[in-house]
Amino acid sequence: MDSTLTLTINGQRHTVTTDPQRPLLHVLREDLGLTGTKYGCGEGQCGACTVLLEGRREHACLLPVRDAAGKSVTTIEGLSTGDPLHPVQRAFLEEGAMQCGYCTPGMILATVALLNHQPRPSDDEVLTWMNAQICRCCGYPRILKAVRRAVAEARR
Ligand code: FES
Ligand code: FES
Repeated sequence: MDSTLTLTINGQRHTVTTDPQRPLLHVLREDLGLTGTKYGCGEGQCGACTVLLEGRREHACLLPVRDAAGKSVTTIEGLSTGDPLHPVQRAFLEEGAMQCGYCTPGMILATVALLNHQPRPSDDEVLTWMNAQICRCCGYPRILKAVRRAVAEARR
């Protein structure tokens, strides 16, 4: 049975009437038009659907929308209003860390979540953290350069 839920996405309140078990990913993309969050595996394995829930990394493909109600959700659309870019977005741009770009929103939000969780991560922590994010173009060298750049800039 459908429920009416209030979601706070990128600082804006939205009311949706839907099956509360429906994945947040589908609500974002299909109901709210926020297509920056991508569908990859649908099984919590690739990270294409990464969003921030209260600043923490979350797979929107697995999260029932009712679990996001009353919490703060950030998608790639909400990270910056464009100019200036968020520092992690800038690091990805400056390193040219994308090919098709499908994984990029998830990679960027995973990096933001890493820095929220551990502002000064070691390189091992970076590698372990980013291991959960898959790039089907295998653009890992540039992605990791971008993440390391973002980490170095956050240390300044
Ligand atoms: S689509 Fe959610 S982890 Fe792959
Ligand atoms: S750049 Fe294509 S999936 Fe990563």
